[in-house]
Amino acid sequence: MAEPTKKDLLKDLVVGIDIKQHDVRPLVDAMANMAFQARNLGRAAKIYDMMLADKDCSVIVCMAGSLCSAGLRDVFIDMVENRMVDAIVATGANIVDQDFFEGLGFKHYRGDVRADDGMLRRHAIDRIYDTYIDEDQLRVCDSTMAKIADEMLAAGGPRAVSSREFIREMGAYVAKHHPTTRSLVLSAYRMDVPIFVPAFSDCSAGFGLVYHQVHHPDGHMAIDSAADFRELTELKLRAGRTGLLMVGGGVPKNFAQDVVVAAEVLGHETEMHKYAVQLTVADERDGALSGSTLREANSWGKVDLGDEQMVFGEATVTLPLVAAYAYHRGAWRAREERRFAKLFEKEAAEK
Ligand SMILES: NC(=O)c1ccc[n+]([C@@H]2O[C@H](COP(=O)([O-])OP(=O)(O)OC[C@H]3O[C@@H](n4cnc5c(N)ncnc54)[C@H](O)[C@@H]3O)[C@@H](O)[C@H]2O)c1
Repeated sequence: MAEPTKKDLLKDLVVGIDIKQHDVRPLVDAMANMAFQARNLGRAAKIYDMMLADKDCSVIVCMAGSLCSAGLRDVFIDMVENRMVDAIVATGANIVDQDFFEGLGFKHYRGDVRADDGMLRRHAIDRIYDTYIDEDQLRVCDSTMAKIADEMLAAGGPRAVSSREFIREMGAYVAKHHPTTRSLVLSAYRMDVPIFVPAFSDCSAGFGLVYHQVHHPDGHMAIDSAADFRELTELKLRAGRTGLLMVGGGVPKNFAQDVVVAAEVLGHETEMHKYAVQLTVADERDGALSGSTLREANSWGKVDLGDEQMVFGEATVTLPLVAAYAYHRGAWRAREERRFAKLFEKEAAEK
């Protein structure tokens, strides 16, 4: 049988789910009276709704894993556009390789988990489980990151910036060159929702920044991950009460939880995260961070007990239910916009 062409392989798009179209309230309410993860999910959805209904609570969303490529990108965009999140902590893969990539006009395709990976390699197609990506397009994403670094260098000279500042420039880039595409970095830019990626070089951004630094050996842009931590801590101090909605675990989960301790180190008394929900496939037996329970986080002084809930399940199944439940409950309608990104612009202007 003849080998399929690249065009044959890249034809069925991954279609993002639209939480606005699915009123899951009766389903999730019914699940809350079941057992196991159905009950946990029902409780998690109610806690997220409580965060949004609490007018003093700012919401931080954490993203790990391959969420944006898997059809969840629109969920996060809807959350940003409807005041359901005030700050984001994520992995670079989600923000750069998957969201910014689509902001540039590229797509993710439905593939086959049993595919011949050697054949995919010959076509320069990358696979994430059952999803295909055109690697040639990813290279354009890498080089666009280098271009943004070049432009920042030309505008302000060599310096180290937080990932938050760099990602805002990515939002500005999409606003300028692809204003009609749907993108999380674009929506966050427009809504002044800061996005932090603590391990920023561990993705397409890394390729772009390495290229940029090698081509500007005498002065270049760098990423200051301590600045990310400081800025997120400042945000926590400004916010006061906070709730976490963590999708997956990894670096974003720890980074967002640790700001309570960082505030203490700086001599401030601040509340632990009052509300916390984590949707994860990891369990706690290995003692690693991703599956550590939110009760355990209480022993570290990071998360309050009471309104916290772990849900053990894969996020393409659990997040649409939790997010759609909160969306259709509508508490977000009465929420004030925080526009936390402006906090750092003001600081920059004062320097
Ligand atoms: N995921 C990718 O395709 C990809 C691509 C390029 C770079 N990277 C980089 O690799 C690093 C780690 O990335 P990562 O976040 O993908 O892996 P990760 O293994 O660090 O994810 C952390 C944990 O989150 C949980 N998790 C992940 N996906 C989940 C899901 N769908 N549902 C529920 N729980 C889930 C798992 O417990 C996992 O152990 C990051 O710096 C990222 O930028 C990842």
